[in-house]
Amino acid sequence: MEKIFRVFSLKHLLLVSIALNVSLILRVMNLSEKEILNSWSQEEELAKGHVSNNRHLSSSSSSSSSSFANTRIEAEDGGEKVINLDHVIAVAIIMLSLPGLTKTDFIDVMLLMFFFQCSGDPTMYEKYWQQVGDKTTIVIPGWQSLSYFSDVSNICWFLEPDFAKEVVRLHRVVGNAITENRHLVVGTGSTQLFQAALYALSPQDALEPISVVSAAPFYSSYPSITDCLKSGLYKWAGDAHSFKKDGPYIELVTSPNNPDGFVRQSVVNRSEGILVHDLAYYWPQYTSISFPADHDLMLFTVSKSTGHAGMRIGWALVKDTEVAKKMTKYIELNTIGVSKDSQLRAAKVLKVLSNSCEPNSSEGECFFEFNHRQMATRWKQLRMAVQKSGLFSVPEFPPQFCTFLGRDFKPQPAFAWLKCEQEEIDDCESFLRGKKILTRSGRHFGFSSKYVRISMLDRDQNYNLFVERLSNIIIS
Ligand SMILES: *[C@@H]1O[C@H](CO)[C@@H](O)[C@H](O)[C@H]1NC(C)=O
Ligand SMILES: *[C@@H]1O[C@H](CO)[C@@H](O)[C@H](O)[C@H]1NC(C)=O
Repeated sequence: MEKIFRVFSLKHLLLVSIALNVSLILRVMNLSEKEILNSWSQEEELAKGHVSNNRHLSSSSSSSSSSFANTRIEAEDGGEKVINLDHVIAVAIIMLSLPGLTKTDFIDVMLLMFFFQCSGDPTMYEKYWQQVGDKTTIVIPGWQSLSYFSDVSNICWFLEPDFAKEVVRLHRVVGNAITENRHLVVGTGSTQLFQAALYALSPQDALEPISVVSAAPFYSSYPSITDCLKSGLYKWAGDAHSFKKDGPYIELVTSPNNPDGFVRQSVVNRSEGILVHDLAYYWPQYTSISFPADHDLMLFTVSKSTGHAGMRIGWALVKDTEVAKKMTKYIELNTIGVSKDSQLRAAKVLKVLSNSCEPNSSEGECFFEFNHRQMATRWKQLRMAVQKSGLFSVPEFPPQFCTFLGRDFKPQPAFAWLKCEQEEIDDCESFLRGKKILTRSGRHFGFSSKYVRISMLDRDQNYNLFVERLSNIIIS
């Protein structure tokens, strides 16, 4: 990392920050830095205009708010912009077009970008939290949060009691996971907890690293996170469907799955298997809550539940005391705990969220109801665009009863797993890139390049532009 930062000039930092924050639409034609910055500030202005307009609209008048967004998009979309649904590619394109950039600079920046590209930026959620206003604001005086320790009586000694309380409450309100007789371990995002889990579950004295598998298509960051340090403890072993090796293994079960949104169960099913359940998307805006999950090790994160990806807070519910201790040890070695400021802020956000969804709430609309409707609208738009175009398909899901929302609905995942149906299109990612839509190829998910993953959690403006453009790709 040090080397990476040394080669960073202000220019590069600026670019990375542009890419990470607002450059969901970028000019790639006749590109110069000045133009990038100009388009960036335009986006900011647009976003601000959009926000202040929205504040006066109730949630039910979403049609007028989206028609406002559409007008702005049409004004902006001269067909010259690329919809960036994958930050890495966009930055690569910008950087390659900059004069005086060495290959090493480029590679370093791209390596750094790989840390950031792993998930769709959940900026869709800004809308709800803007409506909530100051209720989630917290003030932390300068004399607070100095100590490393939060609760020395807990195995996870850096876990803030208020955060722990709100996590337990939220799971009770939603009914998506059992928290009784479990240890709660907080992490810097569920990515750190995933690594802590691998560390904790791997036999420490084995002759060879334990195999880590997941059924394809799997979350594209699993292989790179698992193998980034070439650990002697664990090793990525690919698609669980084709895993034949005898002996112990760790299987990652992501349900609903990233990238395709299907509800999943383990597939290897051998006695020596250890399961890690990644339940980042097991929330009612995405999928029916059919029962409280009751697995040995379950991972959750605020980034996909509340949308606060930048807070870097995740949590694990762990049955086994020794595993909880080892996970805590890993986080101690890795970052000596987890930001108290973030935990306090997360506690406040979760509290406001739970308040909004209590049956007798007077706090405005329930977070999950509001965002469920957002996702429903987006999936409807996407399915219409796919139908109009005729070149693509997206998964079909059966409806299921949701115990939280009290009705049946079909899953509406955080990602669309889009397939290019035309026989002659083998590389869907590059086909869409040609149509100025940047996505992430199925290859990265251990699957066919006829598929791409598209984030469904972008801001309205970019999302609307994307479906508009997709619907206009027709057989020529
Ligand atoms: C493995 O176990 C799960 C859950 O117990 C079950 O649903 C699934 O069908 C099993 N898979 C195979 C391939 O046997
Ligand atoms: C809602 O009802 C529960 C119990 O019925 C009560 O504990 C809680 O304080 C109430 N909340 C509000 C916001 O009135």
